[in-house]
This record gives sequence, C-alpha cells and structure tokens, in this order.
Amino acid sequence: MKKILVVGSSNVDFVIDTPHIPAPGETVLGGQLVKYPGGKGANQANAAGRLGGEVVFLTVLGEDEEGRMLRQGLTQAGVEMDRAGTAPDLATGIASIYVAEEGENAIVVAPGANRRCGRAYLEEQEEAFAECGLLLLSMEIPLEGVDYAARKGKERGKLVILNPAPAPVPDSLSPSLWEQVDLLTPNETELGKLSGMPVETLPQMEAACHALLEKGAGCLVVTLGEKGALLVKKGKTALFPAPAVTAVDTTGAGDTFNGALAVMLAKGAGLEQAVSFANCAAALSVTRRGAQTSAPAFDEVNALWQAETAGRTN
Ligand code: RIB
Repeated sequence: MKKILVVGSSNVDFVIDTPHIPAPGETVLGGQLVKYPGGKGANQANAAGRLGGEVVFLTVLGEDEEGRMLRQGLTQAGVEMDRAGTAPDLATGIASIYVAEEGENAIVVAPGANRRCGRAYLEEQEEAFAECGLLLLSMEIPLEGVDYAARKGKERGKLVILNPAPAPVPDSLSPSLWEQVDLLTPNETELGKLSGMPVETLPQMEAACHALLEKGAGCLVVTLGEKGALLVKKGKTALFPAPAVTAVDTTGAGDTFNGALAVMLAKGAGLEQAVSFANCAAALSVTRRGAQTSAPAFDEVNALWQAETAGRTN
C-alpha cells in the first residue's frame, strides 16, 4: 500500500441543527450547539486513516484546546500527525455550521492557523513529499500552498488528487495548476464555478469536465451527493450511482469520499473500483452526524460495496 500525504485544513466545527438554512436577514431558532472535529483536510485524513490507509497529514493547528482535540482524534484514527505544524499566535480553524432537517448544510469558516499552511511550512516537508505515493489536496488553505504541493507532487511523479473545495475564484489560481493534477474531484457547484459553465444536466456537466480536461487536468470525478459520482476522462464518461440511504447530516461527505478514493488508489485499485467504493463510504457517512465522527470503518464500507456491486457492471 502506498503512503497517502494529505495536505489541508483542520477546523473545529460548531454545529447547530436548524429547521431550515436561514435566508439573509432571517433569524431561526435551532437546536443545541455541538462541537465536532472537522476541516476538509482533517476530514479527508481521518476518513482515509479509519479505512486503513497509511496517512501522513500536513496541516497547521493553533496551540489551543481545539488544536489538541484535533491532533488527538486524528492520531487515534491512525493518522501520522508528527509533521503537523502549530501557529502559537493564531487560533485553530473554526467552522460555524448549520445542518437543516434534510441533512443539507451551510458553512462559514474562520481559517485561523490554516492561514499558515502555505509554502513556507510545506517547503520544510520535503521528506513527506518524497515518501508518499499519492497526494490528496483541498483548498481551505492558502492557494500558494495548494499550488506548491501540487507542483512538488507532480515533479516527484506522485499521483496528485485535488479536491477543489471550497471552490476558489477561478482567476486566483495559477493557470498551470490543472496540469499538475491527475484527478480533480469537484462537486457540482465547484465544477460550475471552476469551468464558468452551466452544470444543471449531466451533458452540461460532462461539457464542463471536458473544459477542465482541456486545461490540463488528467481526469475528473464529480461528486453528485445522493445521485452518486460522474467519472469523466478523455474517451470515457461513466455515472456511478450512490447507494440509497436516509441522510441526517451531509457535512464532510465529500471529504469521506475523497479519503476513501485515496485509500483504494493507494491499494492499487482501478479508478472505477475506487469511485464505487468511495460512493459507499460517503453514503454511510451521511447517515451519521458530524464530519469526522461519521467516517465509516473499512469492513462496513466493504460490506455495503459488495452488496451494491453484486450484478453491476460499473
Ligand atoms: O467539508 C466539511 C468541512 O468544511 C467541515 O468539517 C468544516 O470544517 C469545513 O471545513
């Protein structure tokens, strides 16, 4: 199994259940405030660790209770945290999350220490880049850090997976970033923002994916929530349906998907197999609350995957 290097954010999520996501200017009475470990990078590292991946996590935490809580939880999930940095003058990242009755959410992040997960910190992690087999990147850290990590990975011949979440303003990205990326994993909204194209229908999404392939991305997997995932590469498009489940909280489902995808690829699985496995991991995660607390173990994903794929051709 190849080592997975996850580079990304860590947050503590302050979550309130709400009957619906408030409109601008609206006040809603919600449920109790609950604190969960989160952050896109940390969620991906945690999901991959819980699924049995060999994971090293590059992130920056504050020297505070939240930072200690995240470090401890990720270590328990089997993630190597020795290289995680600390920013003594900044608080650990915080996300304020509303979860509505159908499980959908709205999130605002105060990045705090994640602002230090940039080039200066990553330049000191040469050994981690050299030792890994694949890189999993997301965008809740400075974009110069994402750019540096992607280039470093590509230069060293590693498989580079970029989850472009949250979607940045397209003009803020280096135009050559896409050429460093082997596998791009946006959701529908991120695909629309990155391509600047409509993404309401599958043919529109396919066209938007082709626009990003033209810019240099190796391959795209678009996560579509309950509809599954769309794989688009030159000469092939395939839709992988997701198992039907009752969602209670979709927070971190995309992160679990990416963590699971990375684990399967690190084990040498083909991309199609990895996508259908990741669909099952994400489906299980939405049946439970919290971003990291909902990440499933390998055996339960495997059982669902076997049941789902029996008789299917993709
Ligand atoms: O993807 C879900 C995550 O987004 C949450 O855990 C929150 O911290 C934000 O980063």
